[in-house]
Amino acid sequence: MPEKEPIGVIGVGWVGLVTAACFAELGHEVYARDIVPEKVEVLRRGEVPIHEPGLPDLVRANSQRLHFTTDIDEVLQNTQLLFCCVDTPPTYSGDADLSRIEAVLDSVGNSDDHALVMKSTVPVGTGRSIRRRSDGLGYVSNPEFLQEGSAVRDFMHPTRVVVGADDDSGEFAERVEALYEPLDAELVRTDVASAEMIKLASNAFLATKISFINEIANVSEDLGADVEEVARGMGLDERIGPKFLQAGVGYGGSCFPKDVQALKQLAGNTGYHFQLLTAVIEVNELQKRRTIGKLQKHLGSLVGRQIALLGVAFKPNTDDVREATSLVLAGRLQGEGAQVRVYDPIASERAREILGDARICDSALAALDGADAVVLVTEWPEFRELDWEGGVKARMRTPLVVDGRNFLDREALRDAGFTYEGVGR
Ligand code: UGA
Repeated sequence: MPEKEPIGVIGVGWVGLVTAACFAELGHEVYARDIVPEKVEVLRRGEVPIHEPGLPDLVRANSQRLHFTTDIDEVLQNTQLLFCCVDTPPTYSGDADLSRIEAVLDSVGNSDDHALVMKSTVPVGTGRSIRRRSDGLGYVSNPEFLQEGSAVRDFMHPTRVVVGADDDSGEFAERVEALYEPLDAELVRTDVASAEMIKLASNAFLATKISFINEIANVSEDLGADVEEVARGMGLDERIGPKFLQAGVGYGGSCFPKDVQALKQLAGNTGYHFQLLTAVIEVNELQKRRTIGKLQKHLGSLVGRQIALLGVAFKPNTDDVREATSLVLAGRLQGEGAQVRVYDPIASERAREILGDARICDSALAALDGADAVVLVTEWPEFRELDWEGGVKARMRTPLVVDGRNFLDREALRDAGFTYEGVGR
């Protein structure tokens, strides 16, 4: 075997591409397979089809070691550790849809020369049922903890590396551990089910933190406290920590909504009612209704009102609009009879497919033209730089700002004559 173990990556979406590029950067030959020929073509040309800071440079710098293909045999012939990075979207019932993982299993076969290394987020118990089905293939759970927008940095400087394997895949697990050695991270070596649970529990806990601070925000609003001050004061306690205490319109994205629901569902399937997660989901839902309520408080009925949404991506530094709060809000506002216009610095194209041409604007100012109110949904820095006191105010029909991320300069806006509604302050 070469000094650096070659790596197989199956599914070159966001997780797969970051994993492939980062292992290539660490000196491994990487054979990355996707079933979509157009995507493979684009990648072979050295282009990166998603917005992720630092990723295009990494793909370019390591092009010699990155082999993109549609052919699974090319991966099987050249590698033994097969990182499974296909997505596991939610089904209608809230369970994870594992059909793409089933397809991967069909294509890789059952050879005991290979191990499936699971990066996709899967329900606890998936590893066990895969082993039952493909008992020759090795199996290692290696969940990812990357955040979109900082995924390359998160991969290279992980808070921890989790490697879960049962006894019969111990040797494969050691090889997976060895891949991460250069990163000098804390290693959690455990069994498969615990590794699967670490991933789901981590996301569920972070989502709980967000819903918790959102409820503190709602209560603070009524009691005259400022949630930003409250979060700062709480976060200094090391046991609480300052992160994920940013109150706002609620969490979105391809992970939290899906994973919280999946864990709740998984518990429910065993007969356990996960009360806390039920509340976490409900609070997240209520934050959106509350946002609409703030518009109604000032405008009355929203029928015929023009509402500008600033930001479509589920958070800054990504063009991902999956489960984005903006899209949920846009749908609800339209349901109330409002006309919605949205702008995002980089995610507009993806939103266009969902919302249609008429609602997408080429600039923030265009979205604000004639608006009865603006809702800031995604905290892109450029929204803070807008000429609020001048150009923005002159364009809007009513100077009403609902700042869904407590991101804008509240005092400056109020001084300029805006009606400002934040979250929990
Ligand atoms: C999340 C986790 O943070 C990663 O550790 C995990 O690997 C990833 O899911 C995954 O399972 O793949 P990500 O979805 O990229 O990462 O985004 P986050 O930065 O966690 O933000 C999620 C949502 O929570 C966003 O809508 C964000 O606006 C919201 N949020 C975050 C808040 O409303 N308040 C906060 O304080 C923090």
